[in-house]
Amino acid sequence: MTEQDFIPKTYSKTKDSGSVTWSSPSNIALVKYWGKKEDQIPENPSISFTLDNCKTTTILSFSKKESNDAFSFDVFLDDDKKDDFKPKIETFFKRIERYLPFLKEYHFKIETSNTFPHSSGIASSASGMSALALCLMSLEKELSENISQDYFNQKASFLARLGSGSACRSIEGNLIVWGTHQNIDGSSDLFGVKYPYEVHQNFKNYQDTILLVDKGEKQVSSTVGHDLMHNHPFATRRFAQAHESMSKLIKIFKNGDLDAFLKIVESEALTLHAMMMTSMPYFILMKPNTLEIINKIWAFRIETNSKVCFTLDAGANVHILYPEREKDAVLKFIKTELVAYCQNGHYISDQIGFGAQQIDN
Ligand code: PMV
Repeated sequence: MTEQDFIPKTYSKTKDSGSVTWSSPSNIALVKYWGKKEDQIPENPSISFTLDNCKTTTILSFSKKESNDAFSFDVFLDDDKKDDFKPKIETFFKRIERYLPFLKEYHFKIETSNTFPHSSGIASSASGMSALALCLMSLEKELSENISQDYFNQKASFLARLGSGSACRSIEGNLIVWGTHQNIDGSSDLFGVKYPYEVHQNFKNYQDTILLVDKGEKQVSSTVGHDLMHNHPFATRRFAQAHESMSKLIKIFKNGDLDAFLKIVESEALTLHAMMMTSMPYFILMKPNTLEIINKIWAFRIETNSKVCFTLDAGANVHILYPEREKDAVLKFIKTELVAYCQNGHYISDQIGFGAQQIDN
């Protein structure tokens, strides 16, 4: 598939008005995407677990308008009009207009809500952009004669990528690869694909408990962070490392070696943050409590031989990953030893999920 394949020829049907609803999850990267070329083309391949509980639900209502000279839309979060969200969506619409030529023909009402608190430090861009991309694809489907399920998902992922890179990994589940890797058939820089090989039972229903260490706004956005990978002294080595991590994971997913798994996952998280600390200008998104939690996890692992591990996004919150069979023990450990490091004691229990769902209106 190339970009050209996502430009529709003509639409065979018309639709004056209507509404569609999609609920789309967040995802957590095991091998991290950090550094991009133009249009959210990643510098290296990444792989993520799709989540289940952390989701955005978006209702897209559309009605044909008189003139086609500009985009027209209103955005609401939990029933509140959000004009400050508009520039991001305007940019998204500009980027995807080539691929959805009907965009200027409609006025859109975008009503969105998240299952996780807005100010939780959990980025809503992956779930939010994927939900919006899926709604727009549903409209394209109504205008088209036949769109296959594969094309629908690929194009939704392709569009979501243009909104926010990692959003392209939120359309399906439960393990998604984005970015071309020589050992992964079908992998593409343009959209996420389902991991195509054998996955051991150890990874079934894998758990992710998100410890909310800092709910504040990030000091450095991921857009700025990605940009700082240009001319970064360690960039070339980092991108090569991501390819190596992916190759190692193929073997690990097959044989279920959790000791090897946690080494890759934790190393990827720390490397992501090492890239931030060695950018120019440099920055640190971890907080003292992030490090406290990491040290506690390492101590717990030594004491109990648990396979629990951590990963980090571009922020201070800690994702705690563990196999389902350790659920009771790890939750007890979290409640007794880790909750103290969370802001207001807050954490979110999640697990690996199976992708976005359309909701009947
Ligand atoms: O999708 P963006 O541009 O917000 O970048 C997200 C990058 C990380 O979350 C740090 C890593 C990843 O692969 O999700």
